[in-house]
Amino acid sequence: MIDLMTDTKLHDENRQGEAYAPFAGDPNLYQKKFYIESYGCAMNFSDSEIVASILNTAGFGATRNTEEADLILLNTCSIREKAEQTIRKRLTEFRKSKQRKPGMLIGVLGCMAERLKSNLLEEEKLVDLVVGPDAYRTLPGLIEEAEGGQKAVNVLLSREETYADISPVRLESNGVSAFISIMRGCNNMCSFCVVPFTRGRERSRDARSIVAEAQDLFDRGFKEVTLLGQNVDSYQFVNEQMDETVSFAMLLEMVAKISPQLRVRFSTSHPKDITDEVLFTIAKYDNICNYIHLPVQSGNTRILQLMNRTYTREWYMKKIDRIREIIPDCGISSDIITGFCSETEEEHLDTLSLMEYSNYDYGYMYFYSERPGTLAAKRYKDDVPEDVKKRRLQEIVDKQYILSLNSNKRDVGKTYEVLIEGESKKDEQSWMGRSSHNKVIVFPKEQHDLKKGDYVMVKVNSCTKGTLLGTITNA
Ligand code: SAH
Ligand code: SF4
Ligand code: F3S
Repeated sequence: MIDLMTDTKLHDENRQGEAYAPFAGDPNLYQKKFYIESYGCAMNFSDSEIVASILNTAGFGATRNTEEADLILLNTCSIREKAEQTIRKRLTEFRKSKQRKPGMLIGVLGCMAERLKSNLLEEEKLVDLVVGPDAYRTLPGLIEEAEGGQKAVNVLLSREETYADISPVRLESNGVSAFISIMRGCNNMCSFCVVPFTRGRERSRDARSIVAEAQDLFDRGFKEVTLLGQNVDSYQFVNEQMDETVSFAMLLEMVAKISPQLRVRFSTSHPKDITDEVLFTIAKYDNICNYIHLPVQSGNTRILQLMNRTYTREWYMKKIDRIREIIPDCGISSDIITGFCSETEEEHLDTLSLMEYSNYDYGYMYFYSERPGTLAAKRYKDDVPEDVKKRRLQEIVDKQYILSLNSNKRDVGKTYEVLIEGESKKDEQSWMGRSSHNKVIVFPKEQHDLKKGDYVMVKVNSCTKGTLLGTITNA
């Protein structure tokens, strides 16, 4: 895999995994079992937690073992062709399990369900359920239909659904950090992107239910929440009874005020929408993390225009300057697409130079994958040859490698407050956690009486491209 992906936490379309539900109560309470695998962005992982909650009320408990599952669900992603191929492969594998256990149901949820609709039933003969992202409340009824031998489909998109009242069942949780979905859909029409088609119109969730969910998590011992949306800076909740409109900056502040012990993160910010008000709010509260994921997509103004990103290279540079001015020690990461329709060599070089200017701490990089139905697919020719796309991608990956390594080297000698997320995967004698600016820090446990969810000051002694290595200090 060429994508630079060591941080799988906030934003990773290739993240995938099985899920189980440690907080779902006694598994014996449930008559039936479901197994769910999630692909794509954090929104999908968050949705799987909503699905788990809905399924619990319908008598299904989670299992990690496909062999004992009565229902297998794949929460899917359509962002690039490769993402869909991975899911198709997985569906073929489940065909074997279904042959062994004919009563078992297989369902496809999420963006691929929405994009392909009932075609999925035709194409993948063994799929029993197809449910789009706004139709999860109807899952229990659809399961009944499927159990009765019918093919069950609901891919209706909604202008209102935010699942505000559903209390997510935390899957795969470390008990320290959790996602909170604050909005759904996307109104931007980036020409390369399938999300507006799979997720529908943008809508914001009731601010009170968001704050209540964050408070509940904090009361249960969680120490970090990540507010999720495709474009969080355009969050806007109109509370008609109180005659007030809650902006994203106001929401951030409301969540930050729950406790200084609760870290607040958010993802994703569209550069055109992130305001000074948001930046000042981040600067004002120590517990709002100094980290912004600010996808640029391309460093060239002509390509940005074709992509319909609505900003220019220079405008983006000014935004970076403004962030650095208001939040001096801010981690910044980006998404970049290389080889977009008609991109020339010079335009590719513009992306490399903008990466350097922005000095990203981290980057997610992809080559352009044409998605059926998008504006780009209709208007422009996908004319950059694959070998050129791959070579350009390798060049931006190499550039980011150096930027990330240098960024980590700059942290050597500094001391950071780290929230402990758990033991290091490689060494059980070490803890692993993150700094406010979203760097992974690993350090020996030593004799200290610490546990997951504690904050500790750590001095960085050395680094690799992906990790800072440190020791506990009293500073
Ligand atoms: N809402 C987020 C991103 C959602 S998709 C935002 O606006 O930043 C995550 C990333 O996938 C995008 O930022 C983009 O870099 C990449 N992506 C989206 N469509 C793509 C396509 N057709 N081909 C390659 N990469 C794509
Ligand atoms: Fe896609 Fe653009 Fe919306 Fe992000 S902002 S989800 S890239 S359309
Ligand atoms: Fe993929 Fe849908 Fe997210 S297309 S990136 S799962 S919104």
